[in-house]
Amino acid sequence: MIGSPHVHFRRIDSTNERARALAAAGAPHGTLVTADEQTAGHGRHGRPWLARPGRALLASFVIRGLTEAEALLPLCAGLAVCEASEALAPVSCALKWPNDVWIERRKAAGILVEGRPAQGWAVIGIGLNVSTAADELPHELRETATSLLIASDERVTVGEARAALASTLAARLADPPEETLARWRARDALLGGQVRWEGGEGRAAGISDTGSLLVDGATGRLELDAGEVHLR
Ligand code: BTN
Repeated sequence: MIGSPHVHFRRIDSTNERARALAAAGAPHGTLVTADEQTAGHGRHGRPWLARPGRALLASFVIRGLTEAEALLPLCAGLAVCEASEALAPVSCALKWPNDVWIERRKAAGILVEGRPAQGWAVIGIGLNVSTAADELPHELRETATSLLIASDERVTVGEARAALASTLAARLADPPEETLARWRARDALLGGQVRWEGGEGRAAGISDTGSLLVDGATGRLELDAGEVHLR
């Protein structure tokens, strides 16, 4: 069952690190690690993930039984965060490739999937700003980040967010790949807009069946891989 067993820490370096250690030691599918506070929370491209203690859902799920749909795990996670958020607060969520959750074009959640496919497991790490107030956001993020509280004024607890997310994640992980892709495409925040990355720029044209970003550039259509490309 997704979300069980559940281990909670008041303070930890990173829930993803702990979930990876548990997975390597044989923790079952669905195991959930959460924390009130992380001292070394991190995101994609090695960037830090910052959150005030008790204000964000900091959660890492151990996923086993990976199939060829493994590449779609981050997409399932993003969809699950959108659906859980919308069930708890009057917000409308979109997905910014590869896996940021946006509310009103500001980042409310980030997702970091780290896998050991050879050992048959992956960890889905999710940081969702739940009850962070506007003046609690780091200064450098005040123009670009948000939380459920900031976006809606709704008083959602981190515990409510955890329960909702476990349920929506279980549902989205059970979807066939074509359903995941269709749901994701319906929330694509970049579609039709101009995107820039280290290697060039172009117009976002949706995602491929393996979750790569399709971009129409000067030389034709390109497929950008989430592991390699960092959008500006
Ligand atoms: C990103 O936006 O780059 C992904 C951020 C992922 C942050 C979450 S918080 C819970 C889990 N533990 C971590 O150290 N990272 C993820």
